[in-house]
Amino acid sequence: MKKKRALSGIQPSGKLHLGNLVGALSNWVKLQDSYECFFFIADLHALTTGYADTGKLKENLMDVAIDMLAAGLTQEKSTLFVQSDIPEHSELHLMFSMITPLAWLERVPTYKSQIEELKEKDLGTYGFLGYPVLQAADILIYKADVVPVGQDQLPHLELTREIGRRFNNYYKEMFPLPKDLLTETPILMGLDGRKMSKSYGNTINISDPPDIVRKKVMEAITDPARVKKEDKGHPEVCNIFAYQKFFNKNSVKQIEADCRSAKIGCVTCKKMIAEILVSYLAPIYDRRKALEKKKDDVLEIFKSGGIRAQAIARQTLTEAKKAMGII
Ligand code: TRP
Ligand code: SF4
Repeated sequence: MKKKRALSGIQPSGKLHLGNLVGALSNWVKLQDSYECFFFIADLHALTTGYADTGKLKENLMDVAIDMLAAGLTQEKSTLFVQSDIPEHSELHLMFSMITPLAWLERVPTYKSQIEELKEKDLGTYGFLGYPVLQAADILIYKADVVPVGQDQLPHLELTREIGRRFNNYYKEMFPLPKDLLTETPILMGLDGRKMSKSYGNTINISDPPDIVRKKVMEAITDPARVKKEDKGHPEVCNIFAYQKFFNKNSVKQIEADCRSAKIGCVTCKKMIAEILVSYLAPIYDRRKALEKKKDDVLEIFKSGGIRAQAIARQTLTEAKKAMGII
């Protein structure tokens, strides 16, 4: 039976963190055996918010490319590429922009919330409003069956289907409507208890050496009510406990009980999870170190993936332009 096609993208926002790893990359790695996989670096999407300062674009791209390979994506199993290497995405984006009502874009929840959150940037641009149109082009140009994403991306996927449906109705029934493949992972909290995010500076990065991982864990905020070791803990408010739940499933019951009865102190608890994280990250860290010495090879992998991807993208674009009557 022919494998279904899965596609997803990640923005090159610099070095990836543990949240990106368990929320996206490690799921992608698992999909490689059961789907025909396309994974790409969405560098054009990075421009929608980062257009004013593009100095680090190439460096960030390389960091993400290395993180993707270090996490276990391989060119044998997946087509890995860079979005801007395939100009067909941009051209289909333009076609789609013709049929996308403004009201659809204005009501995407991330649109207003991002403008609020990133107040220091002027996101009142045409490109930023069109973010989901570009994403629709990314997905539909490969006629993807499924799109592995987190919860936050569901509105974008819904819009992708709406644009696909509208195109199919106007011109030709040619775009299958993709399904989301929700990656079920708890949102890992950052070390300060807020959402893990590069902009908060509260991340554990895939590229952090073991000693930095240990140091960051030891400095993390736990249950604020536990000032002394004798104070009983409340695991449900502790972000270290969230890590125990995810990475230390075998011992989590015991830890919970021992925390509540103050049998275990936060230092011991943190040391335990730090070592678990270090060994979880160790193989990725080692592969990363090796890849950093072979940046040309890394680029080559994404270039040759791009050639494979472009062959498909070109076909779809031609089909779409014919359907629209412009060729
Ligand atoms: N918007 C996605 C994110 O921020 C990245 C992305 C761009 C994407 N194009 C895509 C994800 C296509 C899935 C499919 O995470
Ligand atoms: Fe958190 Fe562990 Fe301290 Fe309990 S013992 S508050 S779970 S760090």
